[in-house]
Amino acid sequence: MSHSGAPDPLFTHGGAALRGTAEVPGDKSISHRALILGAMAVGETRISGLLEGQDVLDTGRAMAALGAIVSRGEDGTWSVHGVGVGGFSEPEDIVDCGNSGTGVRLLMGAVATHGFATTFTGDASLRGRPMGRVTQPLSLFGAQSHGRSGGRLPLTLIGAADPVPVHYATPVASAQIKSAVLLAGLNAPGETVVVEREATRDHSERMLAGFGATIETRPGPEGRIITLQGRPELRPQTIAVPRDPSSAAFPVCAALICEGSDVLVPNIGLNPTRAGLFETLREMGADLTYENPRDEGGEPAADLRARFSPEMRGITVPSERAASMIDEYPILSVVAAFAEGVTDMPGVAELRVKESDRIDAMASGLRACGIEVDEGPDWWRVHGRGPGGVEGGARVAARLDHRIAMSFLCLGMAARKPVGVDDAGPVATSFPVFEPLMTALGAHFERPVE
Ligand code: S3P
Repeated sequence: MSHSGAPDPLFTHGGAALRGTAEVPGDKSISHRALILGAMAVGETRISGLLEGQDVLDTGRAMAALGAIVSRGEDGTWSVHGVGVGGFSEPEDIVDCGNSGTGVRLLMGAVATHGFATTFTGDASLRGRPMGRVTQPLSLFGAQSHGRSGGRLPLTLIGAADPVPVHYATPVASAQIKSAVLLAGLNAPGETVVVEREATRDHSERMLAGFGATIETRPGPEGRIITLQGRPELRPQTIAVPRDPSSAAFPVCAALICEGSDVLVPNIGLNPTRAGLFETLREMGADLTYENPRDEGGEPAADLRARFSPEMRGITVPSERAASMIDEYPILSVVAAFAEGVTDMPGVAELRVKESDRIDAMASGLRACGIEVDEGPDWWRVHGRGPGGVEGGARVAARLDHRIAMSFLCLGMAARKPVGVDDAGPVATSFPVFEPLMTALGAHFERPVE
């Protein structure tokens, strides 16, 4: 479902220290995959800690439209009765994926090797995003797609009734493309192979193995080679979704820039394909520690502790780290504004095709808050003003992008003048409890009377 309510303008004020414990919700990437693979297994998969954000709820609804039975128990545990690999049935209506690029691209993969038609749409943000990067490899299985110009949504995908397996090298570092091909490969006979030059988040590979698929990753001359045997019988699982490092990034970064802060963010997954932001912050001189490091269901995890860090300095973020923190550049640029010196962020062309053009959205808003930003097609640079040096005082366009909205709301918590966004509604796609959680830590939010 698209975010179609009236815009929700929201402001934050500076001056308050953030203190306490921030229990952030479940991982968005893992939540989508748990619902999709649960729907492709035979029997009942139970999922605790599922992110109940709009993006994931839209994927749950899509699974039901394809024939799975999806329900939520009173204790918050979700149940998915799957139909087995190859068992989806043609949906009766258009599948609306709302704001979610991950949802629509993974679902396209999942239906591409079923011999029926599915029409996908989404909100204004999603209808503007490129889908050719997924429909092109899916055409190699035998699927056909008919979309708007540039392959954009609404788009009808006619799945291959008699699919062939595929060998595909991803042209850009994208876990969504990789995952779409692997999900399609599930219902193709023989071996489907994906080669990726740079490692992207590997939740699909881990979860496919957990559901009993035969999948192997090995290094090769062109990058990681991932080989999946088609037509497995997936066994239902009991899944505890870990907490989302991409959501943890907001209370962590807000604590680093707000004077007097000390925040604990417990039980965060530190899968190396996701943890690039925390490494970067530590290199910048952030007082960010990993407490109780441990293993949670095969993934490294720890409690993050972030304290106000007035001594941070800008760095050059290595471009080979980009995939492991691709969703965190907006909030990193906010931290960079409060650091001394320049933060360079090269090798990030992908930021231009997220829920918004994130370089343009952040650069415009940061400039309106008094911060100098330079940018090119695949890089940007923030000139830090040091702690206490950020003016603020702007109302910024969130552009239907949850991470842009949350980034500027965090900036307002440490700027001299209040900062706001024109619409905080999209925050509900990934972090529905952002406002109460940050308020409980001490942040001041305000809705303007209009
Ligand atoms: C995701 C992959 C990333 C990321 C998105 C979630 C996933 O997108 O930006 O928020 O769950 O696979 P790309 O694969 O397009 O980089």
